[in-house]
Formats: sequence, C-alpha cells, structure tokens
Amino acid sequence: MAMPQAVKIVEVGPRDGLQNEKEFVPTTVKIELVNRLAAAGFRNVEAASFVSPKWVPQMADGAVVMAGIERRPGTIYSVLTPNMRGLEGAVAAHADEIVIFGAASEAFSQKNINCSIAESIERFVPVAQAAKEKGLRVRGSVSCSLGCPYQGEVPVASVVDVVERFAALGCDEIDIADTIGVGTPKRTREVFAAVTQVFPRERLSGHFHDTYGQALANIYAALQEGIEIFHASVAGLGGCPYAKGATGNVATEDVLYLMNGLGIETGIDLAQVVEIGDFISTSIGKPNVSRAGKALLAKARSEKSTCV
Ligand code: HMG
Ligand code: MG
Repeated sequence: MAMPQAVKIVEVGPRDGLQNEKEFVPTTVKIELVNRLAAAGFRNVEAASFVSPKWVPQMADGAVVMAGIERRPGTIYSVLTPNMRGLEGAVAAHADEIVIFGAASEAFSQKNINCSIAESIERFVPVAQAAKEKGLRVRGSVSCSLGCPYQGEVPVASVVDVVERFAALGCDEIDIADTIGVGTPKRTREVFAAVTQVFPRERLSGHFHDTYGQALANIYAALQEGIEIFHASVAGLGGCPYAKGATGNVATEDVLYLMNGLGIETGIDLAQVVEIGDFISTSIGKPNVSRAGKALLAKARSEKSTCV
C-alpha cells in the first residue's frame, strides 16, 4: 500500500492534553492555545469537552472556551459529548464536530463513561442523530483499540465490532485509539488492516498515546496501511484520567517532523507549533516532552543569541 501524500493532523492538546491537569488551567490560556493552533494551520482542533464536571473537572469551562475563541473559517472545532446533555452544550457552543467516545474493552467503558459498550452505543444513537440533524460532523473514538489497562489484551474482533457499530450511527470519522500507548507497529497494522475492511480507510484515524515510546513507530505502521488522519498533542501534553500511568498523546511537533521528513504534506507550520509547545508548557508549568520541539527550540534560541 502506497503511503499517503498528505495527511490531516488533528490537534487534541486543548482537550486530551489538558483534561488530566490537576491544577485548573485558566480559561484564557485554553482560549489562546486553541487560537494559536488554528493560526498555525490545523484544519481540526479538539477544543473542549461537554462531559460531567464531576468526572473531569478540568473541562468544566468548555462553553466559555468555545465562546471565547476566534473561529477561523474552514477550521473544524471538535468537542466531546458523552450524552444528550453534552450534545446540547455542543450545539449551543456552535461546535463543528462532536465526538462520541466508546471503548473496545468493557472494563474501560465502565470506568470512563460508567456503562457497558452496548449501553454506550444506545446512548450515542440519539446523540449522533441529533448532531446530524443540526448539520454537525460526528466522530467516534474507540478507546483501548490496542490494549486495555484493566483487561489487558483486546481482540481485534472487538475493535472491528465497535467500528461497525459507530459506522451504523453515521460517524464521519472513526478514531482507533491506543489509550495507554501499549501498541506496537505489528499490532497497529493488524488492527488497521481489519478495520479498513469495514470502514473507509480515508475516514479512519490513528490516536496514539506514547506511554511505551511506540507512537511514532505506530504512526509509520498506520501510514503503511494508508491511514491519512492522525491525532497529536502539542508538547506531548496529557494522560487519561481513567488510564493510570498513561502518558500524553504523541507530541505534535514530533509527528510534523516525521511527516516533513517523509515529504508528506500537513499544511501546518512546524516552527509555529514549536513556539506553541513552549507557550503551553510554560503556562501550565509542565515539561515539554516533544523531542523535536525541544531540539528546535534550543536551535532557534542559539541562533538568536549568536545573531545579536
Ligand atoms: P454518570 O455519573 O453515570 O451520569 O456519568 P449521570 O447522568 O448520573 O451524571 C452525573 C452528574 O453529571 C449529574 O450531575 C449530571 O447532571 C452531570 P448531578 O445531578 O450529580 O449534579 N452530567 C453532566 N454535566 C455536564 N455535561 C454533561 C453531563 N452529563 C451528566 N454532558 C457520564 C456518565 C458519561 C456523564 C460521565 O461518565 C462522564 O462525563 N464521563 C466523561 C469521561 C471523560 O471525559 N473521559 C475523558 C475523555 S475520553 C478519552 O480521553 C479517550 C480518548 O482520548 C481516546 C483514547 O485515547 O482512548 C477520546
Ligand atoms: Mg486519548
């Protein structure tokens, strides 16, 4: 399978990257982060969640974030909606895309959204339907597609099953998510080879956390399966509240560096993203874990200091 010539990078830092922060990140910082990311060329920014603030307190200001950002024409601003209440929030906030999120593992489904996989799909039926009626895009995210923190191994057939159920709900895009970053390239290829049999390849995405340092290798494996959409988080921010020990998503700067090296078009300005990674890490007092981001920052600073 030929590698794609261009990919879409969905920036999930403002949501997946920040949702696990213990200290409340000021809403103004969240707004500036989303604005700067959209200005750097991301066509799709996951900006907020409309979930229970009891479950994820950091995302409680989703409506204020959505009301405060500048909307760039053509940019898709996505928000997470676990139920009808979330959908109502998303519609009121004029989100472009809602994300329904389920899991390929029963145990994770219970921990993350407090219901079984089957119950979650039932709950998503009216959510997806109402979103479609309002003209919103619908994305489905399949957590634990490459392994589960509670049940361990997740059969490929379970991932295919959830993808088929999401497809039946009318999802425009479906994310194959490695929530705890345990996947390896061989498994990644097996899973994508299977799910592309039941859902169009060009509407499937890879959402890799980098806990075991495999995310870039997994992206490369997914590219070999012809996958054209990848999620990433600036500065590698993040971790999942319901997956202990899981680190953030693969760092966006590292993914852009990889794509640039492969000659694959992204439409995103890496230098700007490196600055954004520095801005958000400094703002929340967390180390920047992007390897490319840190190297490019150091290079830019040494060039600046030798120019004066
Ligand atoms: P529940 O406790 O079973 O439901 O939670 P509930 O209906 O009893 O609601 C509990 C309370 O939350 C009630 O408030 C509701 O009103 C309120 P109370 O009456 O006690 O004062 N509530 C809400 N408030 C605001 N917005 C809402 C909402 N819904 C209920 N939409 C529920 C069930 C699904 C709501 C809960 O489990 C939840 O919100 N879970 C979200 C968990 C989450 O956000 N996880 C992280 C995102 S997923 C992720 O990171 C994975 C991903 O990145 C892919 C990957 O890497 O795997 C996408
Ligand atoms: Mg995630």
